Amino acid sequence: MTNVVNRYKTLASAMQSMACNRWFVVVDEQTRDACLPLVAADLQFPIFVLPAGESAKTLDTLALLWDWLDKANASRDDALICVGGGAVCDVGGLAAATFKRGMRVLNVPTTLLSMTDAAWGGKTAINFNGKKNLIGVIRHPDGVVINLRFLQTLNAEQLSDGLAEMLKHGLIGDRKLWTALLSGGVDAIDESLLWQSISVKERFVAQDVCDLNLRHALNFGHTFAHAFEALARERQQHLSHGTAVAWGMVCALYLSVVECAFPVDDMRQTLQFIQENFHPATIECKDYDRLLQLMRSDKKNVQNQIRLVVLKSIEQPLIDWQTSEETIKEAFDFLREGV
Ligand SMILES: NC(=O)c1ccc[n+]([C@@H]2O[C@H](COP(=O)([O-])OP(=O)(O)OC[C@H]3O[C@@H](n4cnc5c(N)ncnc54)[C@H](O)[C@@H]3O)[C@@H](O)[C@H]2O)c1
Ligand SMILES: [Zn+2]
Repeated sequence: MTNVVNRYKTLASAMQSMACNRWFVVVDEQTRDACLPLVAADLQFPIFVLPAGESAKTLDTLALLWDWLDKANASRDDALICVGGGAVCDVGGLAAATFKRGMRVLNVPTTLLSMTDAAWGGKTAINFNGKKNLIGVIRHPDGVVINLRFLQTLNAEQLSDGLAEMLKHGLIGDRKLWTALLSGGVDAIDESLLWQSISVKERFVAQDVCDLNLRHALNFGHTFAHAFEALARERQQHLSHGTAVAWGMVCALYLSVVECAFPVDDMRQTLQFIQENFHPATIECKDYDRLLQLMRSDKKNVQNQIRLVVLKSIEQPLIDWQTSEETIKEAFDFLREGV
């Protein structure tokens, strides 16, 4: 399979290959200090600095980016370089995709999660009306630069967010990746493992860019995870995306075993890895009904029917799986008792 998006190891090689007229850079307050000097210390580009994290993904920020590009008279042949995590890539990518109907984009992901997931696949978004990623378009970047030096300044939680997505990629698409992660954890992550993980995402995206069917497999664990995250938000509790996805994968693996004959031993090993690398589950029986409500309202559902991704075996995902709410409650029980 040919790669969907051009892959680069250095910013210089990407810039040489893309041969754009002018370059604009978007960073956030942290990546400006922690990351930009590692790749572009001696380059003089116009730079736009976003607030760090999720608060950058707003309509106001998007409008500020459009305004900045307009005042600088940026053109479709110019490129926006997004140096940051998923938030910078999401809002920068949307600004670039919509400015003059689309200028060029180069993603320079700086978190493990964005290196393995958010920088690829072309999804861009801002949050709107209190809803996550409500407004966005799908448009591939022109290239992605992968540089593992950025990982050095990430904290343990930021690393585990990426680890959860890599484990997901292993489970849905690459048994060797799954095995390597289980035996080495976050310390085993090197360039080759990262590329294996990226290749899984790229493979599912290539089969279904518009996210109509096969790409749904990348949602493994996420319908559960989004409900755990929404519940935590309602209670003003902190829950990292990686932990929520890890819990979600435990629930999805339970369904996979009881309904699709997923091998029990593979589930046990995955569970043990999750126990060792992520926080224990904090949900309680009294949360089940609210969690189910939240799962019913997930944007991937059709007519409020909960659609899940399960696995027949590692590398064999089944999408749009429907099950009874009783079985989903059993999966919550399993998560509480097992992790
Ligand atoms: N488009 C997609 O396909 C896709 C996929 C997954 C997630 N996402 C989106 O990505 C976002 C989450 O991405 P994220 O986890 O990268 O978080 P993020 O972009 O919010 O970054 C998290 C924090 O890490 C900081 N940071 C970034 N790189 C750093 C570095 N090298 N050293 C130290 N600090 C650094 C950031 O400044 C921020 O404070 C969410 O908004 C999510 O919706 C998009
Ligand atoms: Zn995720």
